[in-house]
Amino acid sequence: MYFDTHAHYDDEAFDADRDSVIQSLPGEGVSLVLNAASDLNSSFKTVALAEKYPFFYAAVGIHPHEASGMSDETLEKLRALASNEKVVAIGEIGLDYHYNFSPRETQKEAFRLQMALAQELNLPVIIHNRDAHEDSLEIVRAFPGVRGVFHCYSGSLEMARELIKLGWHLSFAGPVTFNNARKAPEVVAAVPEERLMIETDCPYLAPVPLRGKRNDSRNLKYIAKRIAEIRGTTLEHIAEVTMQNGINFFGIE
Ligand code: NI
Repeated sequence: MYFDTHAHYDDEAFDADRDSVIQSLPGEGVSLVLNAASDLNSSFKTVALAEKYPFFYAAVGIHPHEASGMSDETLEKLRALASNEKVVAIGEIGLDYHYNFSPRETQKEAFRLQMALAQELNLPVIIHNRDAHEDSLEIVRAFPGVRGVFHCYSGSLEMARELIKLGWHLSFAGPVTFNNARKAPEVVAAVPEERLMIETDCPYLAPVPLRGKRNDSRNLKYIAKRIAEIRGTTLEHIAEVTMQNGINFFGIE
């Protein structure tokens, strides 16, 4: 059985068939899903999905793309949402210097405010980091009391080692299956087993052989298979350890 530790079923890409896709998951071997929010509206939808489906859990937060729209009121609403028992993390939060949809300083401020919220609420965080490795690491180091996961990890092996030392987890998605993947397989091979998680980031980042199509959690097996190949183990073993790691990380009973 699989735990998809990062999905976006609130995304409009699922508007036409959301319930039927979600209902099909347990029958396809996906027994747990963490839905990660991207803005306030998405945080409300994410909590609603977690309330509707027993095997869904929620992360609430503001993605760096949306950092410009964040206010004190946003933070208050996130704090209130996080009191729901199905909310098990703050995310996804972080920095994106690839698209720069929000100014860098605004992104950093939203990131810090939400790290502080996670610390206050004693919740783990889910980090989105794109082309912002140094600044992401600097903010992570500034909050030694906060634990988290770098989702769809794209940094160097050196940075991975640093994060492992700090007690953090790394999660991998469809890009590990891409033919041009270079860094990720090297990191996948080096991550200690107890710090490894897997995710689809659906509807984005469909793995090979479905690259370019709409993604969903049923495709997690392709990611697990590639990770098993890289680490010289079985698909079943990867499914089992990443399930247990996800349960421990998010504190799911
Ligand atoms: Ni995501």
